[in-house]
Amino acid sequence: MLSENLTGKLNKQINHESTSVVLYLQMSAWCASKGYDGCAEFFRLQADEEKQHMEKLFGYVLETGGLPMLGAIAAPPSSWASLRDIFQATLEHEQTVSKEISVLVETALDEKDFSTFNFLQWYVSEQHEEEHQLHSLLDRVDMITAEGHGNFTIDREISRLTQTNHRQ
Ligand code: FEO
Repeated sequence: MLSENLTGKLNKQINHESTSVVLYLQMSAWCASKGYDGCAEFFRLQADEEKQHMEKLFGYVLETGGLPMLGAIAAPPSSWASLRDIFQATLEHEQTVSKEISVLVETALDEKDFSTFNFLQWYVSEQHEEEHQLHSLLDRVDMITAEGHGNFTIDREISRLTQTNHRQ
């Protein structure tokens, strides 16, 4: 049985994950509107993953006797200065999510709620993976830029990496 405190915090995380869905869909729209179809696909798939993160929490709260609450979601930004800027913003967003997950893990431990602590380990690994992936993408973007190539090459490379990752 979830405590009221943890139920509230898990519900906040449901809201944060929903915020990520909306943010990544908006990023996908911005990329598509600029003709960066590879990056648009990358962000659309990211949004799909965030929806799964949200639904996993939703299911856990329900099956643990709590009531999932879907709060209001603020409108995301709708434009970015460059492809590098959008990936930097994504990394910073995921770093914020990692901190939110850490607070949840800490709360579960404080309350000796080991079931929730165990459930949250999946999110800890997922955040590690997402931050690692974004650092690698930014390194790749910087390398391509340093070689004197532009956004067209970056978009093609992100498309190639997205297809490789989703084939695994
Ligand atoms: Fe669900 Fe990318 O954090």
